[in-house]
Amino acid sequence: MDTNIVELVQLLHEARECKNIEEIRIKMGEARSMVEFLDPVSIRQLIISEEGYDSNFIRRLILEDIQQIVESRTKERAVYYINRFVKSITSQQFSKLNDIDLNKWKLYQDILTDSLWIFGKRDSSGDHNADYWGNFIPQIPNQLIRRYTKKGDVVVDGFLGSGTTLIECKKLGRSCIGIELSQKAADIAKEKNSPEDEDKKLFQEVVVGDSQSVDISRILSDHGKKDAKLIILHPPYWDIIKFSSAQNDLSNAADEESFLKMMENVVRNLSSHLERDRYLAVVIGDKYSAGSWIPLGFHTMDRITSLGFRLKSIVVKNFDRTRAKREEKDLWRYRALRGGFYVFKHEYIFIFQKSG
Ligand SMILES: C[S@@+](CC[C@H](N)C(=O)[O-])C[C@H]1O[C@@H](n2cnc3c(N)ncnc32)[C@H](O)[C@@H]1O
Repeated sequence: MDTNIVELVQLLHEARECKNIEEIRIKMGEARSMVEFLDPVSIRQLIISEEGYDSNFIRRLILEDIQQIVESRTKERAVYYINRFVKSITSQQFSKLNDIDLNKWKLYQDILTDSLWIFGKRDSSGDHNADYWGNFIPQIPNQLIRRYTKKGDVVVDGFLGSGTTLIECKKLGRSCIGIELSQKAADIAKEKNSPEDEDKKLFQEVVVGDSQSVDISRILSDHGKKDAKLIILHPPYWDIIKFSSAQNDLSNAADEESFLKMMENVVRNLSSHLERDRYLAVVIGDKYSAGSWIPLGFHTMDRITSLGFRLKSIVVKNFDRTRAKREEKDLWRYRALRGGFYVFKHEYIFIFQKSG
């Protein structure tokens, strides 16, 4: 351990032994000056983390912890906060699910825990671009992957499209099996999966096929994996965008019932490779037809729960037709005012856990 950290921990131990809150506050004043002058390398060592957070951000969080101790009204409360603080800088606590160090939960301010996700601009860094009509913003798979998997785990995306999930998996050190019916879309995804930057321990496989029936067990076993740890599904929102003319394309389902049956088939097929207690995320929006709002999202949700999945969360995400022209937006506003309905501004991310 860095000598500065040893000194800080020593100071915290001394603070814990103080006779009263006033003495604790004096000790914490010393701790504060120490943290204020620690160099960036030592600051980062205070937080044993691979996430690469900025040292100024970490320093601010630590100073906030110290301030909380200073502001405690009783010695008992201050000692409670000191113990928590010592734990956060001397030990780590991980669950089976992800790489989030629960002893440093305050650090992960960019990991969402509320059920309303409002994103501004799409992340267009690295290989991401918005060219594929109907793709989702990279922030969605990014949040899901960090929340529900560890480094090295396998993520399955049953509607890979142009490969957004694949890029995020690669960036975050996860393996990915992406299934896509359209050869054209799969080719775009494969292009982004350039072999020269592949990590040997990780794999990124693009399978051209129908997620209702494709068998991914060979791919898993070829890579020495027993199962997947997360499934992400971003299906067509029934026929809102026609992706191809193939009969088994979900965007060509003859009616809502057929769409829901196809979704059931996909979930049944792919989840047979999902480890028990692991997560399935479905990103889907609703549809408007012949004067009625069709709650495609909730209907899909019902089918998946009836397959035995536990519903963990319904996330509402903002949605904007960024490509739509001003006139098109105005037209929808006019139609809404005339027709007594509201224009779609949200979609859902349903989070399920495989319980059976
Ligand atoms: C909403 S898009 C997914 C976009 C993707 N998330 C991205 O960021 O590029 C849905 C995709 O599902 C594909 N698809 C439709 N039916 C399918 C099926 N039965 N099996 C696999 N893929 C299918 C479509 O070709 C389309 O690319």
